[in-house]
Amino acid sequence: MTIRFDGKVAIVTGAGNGLGKCHAIALAARGAKVVVNDLGGARDGVGASSEAARAVVAEIEAAGGEAIANGADVTNYEQVEAMVNEAREKWGRVDILVNNAGVLRDKSFSNVELDDFGFVLDVHLMGAVNCTKAVWPLMREQNYGRVVMTTSSSGLYGNFGQTNYGAAKMGVIGLMNTLVLEGGKYGIRVNALSPCAATRMTEDLMPENLLGLLKPESVTPALLYLVSEDGPNRTIITAGAGTFARSIVYETGGMWLPEEDQTPEKIAEHWDAISDPSTQKEYTSGNDQTQNMLTKAAEGLGIKLQ
Ligand code: NAI
Repeated sequence: MTIRFDGKVAIVTGAGNGLGKCHAIALAARGAKVVVNDLGGARDGVGASSEAARAVVAEIEAAGGEAIANGADVTNYEQVEAMVNEAREKWGRVDILVNNAGVLRDKSFSNVELDDFGFVLDVHLMGAVNCTKAVWPLMREQNYGRVVMTTSSSGLYGNFGQTNYGAAKMGVIGLMNTLVLEGGKYGIRVNALSPCAATRMTEDLMPENLLGLLKPESVTPALLYLVSEDGPNRTIITAGAGTFARSIVYETGGMWLPEEDQTPEKIAEHWDAISDPSTQKEYTSGNDQTQNMLTKAAEGLGIKLQ
């Protein structure tokens, strides 16, 4: 079955370059009407120009697709709201939001300026918050929405010199987890993409002989799957060089300790059992974790949970 987006309206932020550009072109090629958003600044977020977004729109139109360029800065809620209103006025709805805009200001934690830390959080985390907040009422009204957060291996696992970026990229996973719970009954699904591609953001960080493998075009199919009608929910896909995987947070089942043993020494003594990966489970809400704690305690104490 071919995945198509006919009749769907998509907003892709940071779509003037790199991955966002590739996502926007692919969505339009499969029938979506696309808002190509880009502030048009440099890699570190300095400056602005509408040229990149307009060039992507021209490319989409030349291929017979429909798109509009938008220069909203995702850190500015008023501009983001105006972008969503423009899409709504032109096409009547917004079905898909791809939170992709991003910047880098790498420095080791001992050297990073707090302003640079805050700026990176603002673009990645608050940018995703602003855009999602602006489309959320509309998606609820439509009873349909697909939202994607762009995370990173830096957030999921860490990367030297990227405390600011990693914190922001894990932040969007926290945002996703609760949005899934709040959006489910309105037909809204929220997922995350952890890409790896040679773009202006990363080309000097990647081994030169592998740049040819790390094409944005090898990542975009994962994005298309995530925003498709029958796509998943609460799923993090990692994609790069044609390899697709799922990243999942697991928690070990753990071990209940009676009150007299609730000491750091007993935790150390039982560490192997507490951290035994063969007992791990995937939780889909914070409540699942509480439930596990109470179930274990009730078992240990020999009482029945109501
Ligand atoms: P890129 O630098 O080519 O594209 C990012 C785009 O976002 C630029 O066109 C930029 O103008 C735009 N942008 C920046 N600040 C903005 C703002 N305030 N408002 C609107 N647009 C803004 O970078 P790339 O590699 O395509 O990155 C896309 C996303 O993927 C980013 O979120 C990045 O953090 C993420 N990512 C990329 C990886 C890679 O290997 N390229 C790895 C992991 C994550």
